[in-house]
Amino acid sequence: MNRYAVRADLLDFTADPGWGKPHDASAGLRWRPDHWLLVDGSGRIAGVQAEAPEPSWLRLDHRGRLLMPGFIDTHVHMPQLEVLASFGTELLHWLETYTFPAELRYADPEACSAGSNRFLDALLAHGTTAAVVFPTVHKASAEALFTAAEQRGMRVIAGKCLMDRNAPPGLTDTVDSAERDSTELIERWHGRGRLAYAHTVRFAPTSSDAQLALAGRLLAAHPGTYLQTHVAENQDELRWVAELFPDARSYLDVYARHGLVGARSVLAHGIWLDADDRALLAREGAQIAHSPSSNLFLGSGLADWRGLEQEGVAVTLASDVGGGTSLSMLRTMADAYKVQALRGVRLSAWKALYAATRGAATALGLEREIGSLDIGCVADFALWQYAVGPVAAARDAAVSSLHERLFALMTLGDERNVVSTYVAGQCLYAAA
Ligand code: GUN
Ligand code: ZN
Repeated sequence: MNRYAVRADLLDFTADPGWGKPHDASAGLRWRPDHWLLVDGSGRIAGVQAEAPEPSWLRLDHRGRLLMPGFIDTHVHMPQLEVLASFGTELLHWLETYTFPAELRYADPEACSAGSNRFLDALLAHGTTAAVVFPTVHKASAEALFTAAEQRGMRVIAGKCLMDRNAPPGLTDTVDSAERDSTELIERWHGRGRLAYAHTVRFAPTSSDAQLALAGRLLAAHPGTYLQTHVAENQDELRWVAELFPDARSYLDVYARHGLVGARSVLAHGIWLDADDRALLAREGAQIAHSPSSNLFLGSGLADWRGLEQEGVAVTLASDVGGGTSLSMLRTMADAYKVQALRGVRLSAWKALYAATRGAATALGLEREIGSLDIGCVADFALWQYAVGPVAAARDAAVSSLHERLFALMTLGDERNVVSTYVAGQCLYAAA
C-alpha cells in the first residue's frame, strides 16, 4: 500500500471526557480542524500535522468533512439483520417468535457465509470498523464470520454461541460438542491477524450449569480470549433466571460462580443490577455494553450509565441489532441520550463519541491498536459529512459551538453521513 495523507477535520479523544458540562475545550477531547492524517504503507497512523505533507505522500482532500476513528460496537448479532423491526414483544417472546427461527437458518453454511459478508459490509457502511459479535450456535457461523472479517482485515471479537437448553431443536449444542467446536475455533482463529475469540454464552437461561462451567474452564485455559453474554436485561428474564438457578444470589452471580466475570468479559445490558452486582463488576473489571436502542425497542428498561461508572464499572456502547433497530452508532448515541434524559442525566456528544471509540478500545484492552488517531494505531477511521439533507444542513448552519455541531450530528445523523470507511488504511466502503 502506498502511504497517503487525508485532509479533514480530525476528532478523537485522549481520555474520558466524563459527565461534566461539555465545552469545546473539554478534557480528553482532541480537535484538530483542517489537519492531515498520515497513513503509512503498513496501514498505521504515522502522524497528524497542520501543514500539507511533502509531495511523496499521496493526498486525499476531504476538506470540510469530519474524520473520526472507526466506531467500535461492543455487542451486536450477525444473524439478526433479518429480525430488525419485529413488532410487538418483549425479550423472551421476541427470542422465541422471531429470533430463534431466524437463527435456525444458519445451520446452512452458505447462509452463514452470505450473512457474515452482508453483516460486515453493513457495519462498514455505518462507519463501524470493529465489533464484538454474536453469530449463532452453529460452528459454521463463527467460521464464516471470522473468514469474512479476515478478508476485510477487521478487528472482530466473536465465538460460537453456547446454548444447550431452552431453545428449539436445531439451535442447541451439548457440553461435549461445545467444547470440541470451541476448542477447534480457538485454535484456528484466536490471535490470527486481528481476530480474537470470545466464549459466547447466549444468556443464563440457555446454558446448563455444566455448560457455564465449561465456558469458565475455556476462558481460564485460553489467555487473551474474551467472554460475551447478556445480563439483567428484562424483568421476566430475571424471574426465569431466579427459577433456573435458585442458589444464585443474583443473575450476575450465575456467571460469577463460574469465573465468567472478569476483565475480558463483555456483558450486554446490565439494567437490573443491584449494588453487590455493581461492586463485583467494578472489582473484576468487567464491562457493560449499554444497548439503548434495544432497551427502548424491547421495552427492557433504562440503564444507569452514569451510576455504573460512578461505581467504577466500565460502560461501552452497543447497537445490539436486532433487538436494537440500527447498526448506526450515531443513532445508538442519540438513543443513549434519550435514555439518560429519562433518568435526569444529559449525555454529551463527547462522552458518547468517546464511549464508541477510545472508551470501547480501552475497555477491551485494545487502546494501543484502535479507537483513536494516536500515532502507531491501526488506521481504522471513517470520514463523515456533518449534515445530510436540508433539515440537518439548516441546523448545522446555526450552530455556535463545536459541541453543538457534533451533538446535532449525533442526534440527526446516521449512515447517510458516512462518506467512506477505512480499515487498516484500506478504503473498504465509499458512499455512492
Ligand atoms: N438475550 C438472549 N439472547 C438475546 C438476543 O439475541 N438479544 C438480546 N437483546 N437479548 C438476548
Ligand atoms: Zn444482544
